[in-house]
Amino acid sequence: MDILKGGKTIDSGMESSLEFAQRIMKMVNSATLTVALSLGVETGLFKVMGGLQEPSTSSQIAQMAGLKERYVREWLGAMVVGRIVDVNPIENTYYVPPDRLPFLVDGPMNVVAFSRLIPMLCEAYDNVADCFRRDGPAGVSYTKYGKFHQFMDHMSNMLHNTTLIPDVVPSIAGLMPLLEAGSECLDVGCGRGRAVLLLAQRFPRSAFCGIDISDEAINFARNEAKRLSLTNCQFMVQDAASLPESWMEHFDLITCFDALHDMPKPRVVLSGVHRALAPGGIFTMLELNVHSHPSKNIGNPRAIDGYVISLMHCMPVSLECEDGAGLGTMWGREMACKMLEEVGFADVNVTPSKDKFNLIYVSQKKSE
Ligand SMILES: C[S@@+](CC[C@H](N)C(=O)[O-])C[C@H]1O[C@@H](n2cnc3c(N)ncnc32)[C@H](O)[C@@H]1O
Repeated sequence: MDILKGGKTIDSGMESSLEFAQRIMKMVNSATLTVALSLGVETGLFKVMGGLQEPSTSSQIAQMAGLKERYVREWLGAMVVGRIVDVNPIENTYYVPPDRLPFLVDGPMNVVAFSRLIPMLCEAYDNVADCFRRDGPAGVSYTKYGKFHQFMDHMSNMLHNTTLIPDVVPSIAGLMPLLEAGSECLDVGCGRGRAVLLLAQRFPRSAFCGIDISDEAINFARNEAKRLSLTNCQFMVQDAASLPESWMEHFDLITCFDALHDMPKPRVVLSGVHRALAPGGIFTMLELNVHSHPSKNIGNPRAIDGYVISLMHCMPVSLECEDGAGLGTMWGREMACKMLEEVGFADVNVTPSKDKFNLIYVSQKKSE
């Protein structure tokens, strides 16, 4: 396929027409299989498959999962031809080879959870299609994605559980002693509050506040804090673009995980964040590890799902609000650094996360 770069055409790979058509069919096959993968997560079938002591029939698997055999059998058919599950055609028994299991069941190597993204995004498929029309709506409301917060919570739970405390916090100079000693921290666009809950448990001397525009997400976070008997964190429904005046120069640490690009007024939010930081305070945000121009993202494994997630969710939820910026999750490091600098953050440090999927932006507000 040919693409343009700097006025010149560059060739991103030689491919015959037949190969191109086969590639498209392969994509469609993978996409349809992904829907069945998601159902395996949703119904708990992967969990059951992971716990099997021996290859089992569809009736036995359905029995263990508490599901209807006919549906389980059809799902197993998809899993077999998709080469996720193996079958013994004589015994009619099914099993997952042990080397595949860690990627299908709960744990740090689980990748199948990503499949839930497809049905979540497609909840608003018709709405997004309408937005393309010139006379169509500007964007899509969060309420159209009924399972968004549930999905996001699942993903950020996995991400933060494995990386926030062991990797991200120690990687930011001066942050560990700050949190150990006791400091005031704010998480902007906290969703269901996973990052705040983890930080509050690990650093009992510090006080954490999570804000989000969603009542549903904040209520969930509050209940979790109660369940964990945490007294050093609170959650508030609050638009990040209009932080209270009493918060100015107040926080030692402000975080924003995978959230700024969804916001209708990201520049106003960053400006408010800068003002809400105490002199010497630290701001850190996590965004996808991508560039701002598609030509620089070819071959980046996060770029394909990144653009589609952006198109189907991040961009439309931002554009839905009046004058929404619609940055999208693919806004990339060049744009992000420029905006951070424009609102007053100097010396922005950008490092890839351990898995290289995200970038961690860190900047310290100057002490006057
Ligand atoms: C992609 S989610 C990330 C949530 C969370 N940080 C995480 O990592 O799980 C983006 C979050 O930003 C929130 N959000 C969007 N616009 C907002 C605004 N103006 N003020 C506060 N939160 C907002 C959304 O409700 C959503 O929970």
